[in-house]
Amino acid sequence: MECSWKTVLLLVCASLGVQYTAIRTLRDSLSGPCQGAYRCQSRHFKDSRWRSLCDDGWVPLELPRKHILLFATTRSGSSFTGQLLNQHPGIFYVFEPLYHVQQAFTNSSSRLRRTLDRRALLGAYRDLLLNLYTCDLHFMENYIRPEPQDHTTSSFFRRSSSHALCSPPVCADGADAAATAAAGGSPDEAWCPKKCGALNLTLASASCSSRGHVAIKTVRVPEVGDLRTLTEDPRLDLKIIHLVRDPRAVLASRMMAFADQFRAWKIWNATGRQPRYVDLTQITSTCKDMAASAATGLRRPPWLRGRYLLVRYEDLAFRPKDKAAEIYKFVGLEMGDRVRTWIARNTNDNVSSPSDWNYRYSTTRDSRATAESWRLRLGFDIVRAVQNLCNDTLALLGYKRVHSAAELRNLSHSLVEPRTFKPMT
Ligand SMILES: *[C@@H]1O[C@H](CO)[C@@H](O)[C@H](O)[C@H]1NC(C)=O
Ligand SMILES: *[C@@H]1O[C@H](CO)[C@@H](O)[C@H](O)[C@H]1NC(C)=O
Ligand SMILES: *[C@@H]1O[C@H](CO)[C@@H](O)[C@H](O)[C@H]1NC(C)=O
Ligand SMILES: *[C@@H]1O[C@H](CO)[C@@H](O)[C@H](O)[C@H]1NC(C)=O
Ligand SMILES: *[C@@H]1O[C@H](CO)[C@@H](O)[C@H](O)[C@H]1NC(C)=O
Ligand SMILES: *[C@@H]1O[C@H](CO)[C@@H](O)[C@H](O)[C@H]1NC(C)=O
Repeated sequence: MECSWKTVLLLVCASLGVQYTAIRTLRDSLSGPCQGAYRCQSRHFKDSRWRSLCDDGWVPLELPRKHILLFATTRSGSSFTGQLLNQHPGIFYVFEPLYHVQQAFTNSSSRLRRTLDRRALLGAYRDLLLNLYTCDLHFMENYIRPEPQDHTTSSFFRRSSSHALCSPPVCADGADAAATAAAGGSPDEAWCPKKCGALNLTLASASCSSRGHVAIKTVRVPEVGDLRTLTEDPRLDLKIIHLVRDPRAVLASRMMAFADQFRAWKIWNATGRQPRYVDLTQITSTCKDMAASAATGLRRPPWLRGRYLLVRYEDLAFRPKDKAAEIYKFVGLEMGDRVRTWIARNTNDNVSSPSDWNYRYSTTRDSRATAESWRLRLGFDIVRAVQNLCNDTLALLGYKRVHSAAELRNLSHSLVEPRTFKPMT
């Protein structure tokens, strides 16, 4: 029964009171042996409600549907990398939906929390990913707080980061702003809810279906092994882009972005003396998870074959065009002009244009300088401490240790060993 889950999905939609047209849209856009592919030319989309979607830089659908996971860690360059996917007009991109799951679990009563162990949280993460990959955004209503009313919400985390959620048909008035964003500029983080009002999850689901492919960025899944059931799920064609970054850079970036949380580290950095209460556990587990996932991926187990690509953020920052092309080749999609234009405008492939990205979680134009800036921002003894905590991770991923402050600050001395991590075939 190849199609049974689709039947279930349709019944769910029907019970939620989705209009007939929306159901047709969902059904028509589901790829697979039982339904034809979505076509803008198809008569359903002559309907003016959908025309704008089709006009929105539409490219022919490349079947089968791809389910892309940008699997990363906090401050590893995942916002920037996510934009490479977000700019593709055939991709429905969601920025960290698991945030809502984590919030709901963290805020649940302590009695409930005690019964919810790590496995349960990971299970909830996977459930949400599966539902999003099959374009059921209503599933998020289980987690979004305050609870959505009439299937609409004003609390969707980082909605502005998703082109599809801020342009027609989801946002009727978003066309101009979305065009600006597509051209490489990006207004501040709050523009989309301001311009578009509450998010209608029914419309978002339909937009997801019509876009053909789904890409999700998350920093909340610890290890690639935690995704195994999704790679084995016959309903999905999962492609995991494992984004890693030099842990020394990750730490420096976290210290800048989350100053309160890293007060002890900042004192260490400023005084050159390690406070006794500095918390070494977070960066240690980041390194451990990063290395464990990379080791798993590079070992090429059958369940990851053809589904895992290791990308170092530094390689992407130094050669954005080449690396983006490699990523698109791996996921099996054409990169397209919009992505190319975005790269040209937002990386130092084009040095003449000013940066429009200046909020806290910015992706940035001068990708190379940003990737290296940690070397001027971290005290040598912090660097040495991280090198010891993360020794295996540095070695596995090809990041060189430094042995003196002079070596650390000398930017003509590269700390990134040339490596190719071949995608599995
Ligand atoms: C969870 O609790 C924190 C702190 O009390 C609060 O700031 C946050 O908004 C809550 N999140 C949700 C989703 O309720
Ligand atoms: C959300 O969109 C659907 C489909 O267009 C529509 O039927 C529904 O009325 C909308 N919900 C709200 C609250 O506007
Ligand atoms: C580089 O930036 C300038 C100024 O924003 C812009 O006019 C030009 O089109 C950009 N070049 C490319 C290749 O996008
Ligand atoms: C560490 O200290 C230096 C000056 O001593 C400062 O320039 C830099 O911004 C600090 N780094 C962080 C991550 O706070
Ligand atoms: C770090 O790893 C390298 C390479 O695996 C090894 O040669 C070196 O002895 C290790 N250093 C420490 C301090 O563990
Ligand atoms: C900086 O590194 C380069 C390349 O390794 C080296 O040739 C140069 O001598 C170094 N400069 C200093 C001041 O150490």
